Amino acid sequence: MRDLINTDILSDALAGLTARQKYLSPKWFYDRRGSELFEKITGLTEYYPTRTETSVLRDNASALARLVPEGGALVELGSGASIKTQYLLDAGGHFGAYVPIDISEDFLLTTADNLRSRYPAMAIHPVIGDFTGPVDLPDDVEELPKVGFFPGSTIGNLDPEDAIALLSRARKWDNICAFILGADLVKPIPDLIAAYDDAEGVTAAFNLNILRRLNNEAGADFDLTGFRHEARWCENPARIEMHLVSIRDQVVELGQEQINFAKGESIHTESCRKYTPDTLADMAAAAGWQVDRLLTDKDQRFAVAVMN
Ligand code: AVJ
Repeated sequence: MRDLINTDILSDALAGLTARQKYLSPKWFYDRRGSELFEKITGLTEYYPTRTETSVLRDNASALARLVPEGGALVELGSGASIKTQYLLDAGGHFGAYVPIDISEDFLLTTADNLRSRYPAMAIHPVIGDFTGPVDLPDDVEELPKVGFFPGSTIGNLDPEDAIALLSRARKWDNICAFILGADLVKPIPDLIAAYDDAEGVTAAFNLNILRRLNNEAGADFDLTGFRHEARWCENPARIEMHLVSIRDQVVELGQEQINFAKGESIHTESCRKYTPDTLADMAAAAGWQVDRLLTDKDQRFAVAVMN
């Protein structure tokens, strides 16, 4: 008996796996196991983005916190475990509220409880939501001046037009005063590939977890040993693509459909765009923002853009 079918994942997967280039949305990576695997990725030697961005945020924490007016709110898109945010919250004694928004409910609520005990003077308003569409902010923060915070280069997962749409929506939030955006920068290709295909195979497990999730939540019957992880560099726009490549001809059942895979055929699971200061400025401008400051590390591996 298959009760408990997640119809959102099933309908998304049916659309993606019947397309000519098969694809799945990276937002489905993050069930509990996927979120844990991602946290593990952030600690890998090859995966420089998290520690680099964290150092940029730490080194600029008080200047960034000052973007939020007295009593204002910091609103974070895709907050996960809110680890990097703590530098801003520590420097933000004057914040009235913190609004973490995340699609992974268990993770979000556990994190919110921890934050409440750590920052008792700040109102913590978690929102379970998908920032790839419009998000309703809680009534309590509607009137507050607010600063958007979208770290991690998660913006780079979105198609260019969706990234612009997200930034445009945030531009229209009531009383928005600034937006802090984390964005990974273009760098030598071997460094980029290594970051998405680590020696320990954690990224491979993270990528394959999406198939395990389709089995568990959408009633699919993927054989996880029938696919291998691949990270590819692509130009225009500059990005890493993650794929799951079928290692043989095979048929997978999904809902009422039989999905055929030829040997070597892939499912595109994620694009991770890499920016230059110019492509970042262009994206901001297309959404009605202007990059006021571009903060980076000494090797210019990762950028934190302050947009007004
Ligand atoms: C969470 C989207 C920022 O693109 O680097 C890490 C996800 N995928 N390794 C990224 C990810 C494979 C990550 N983001």
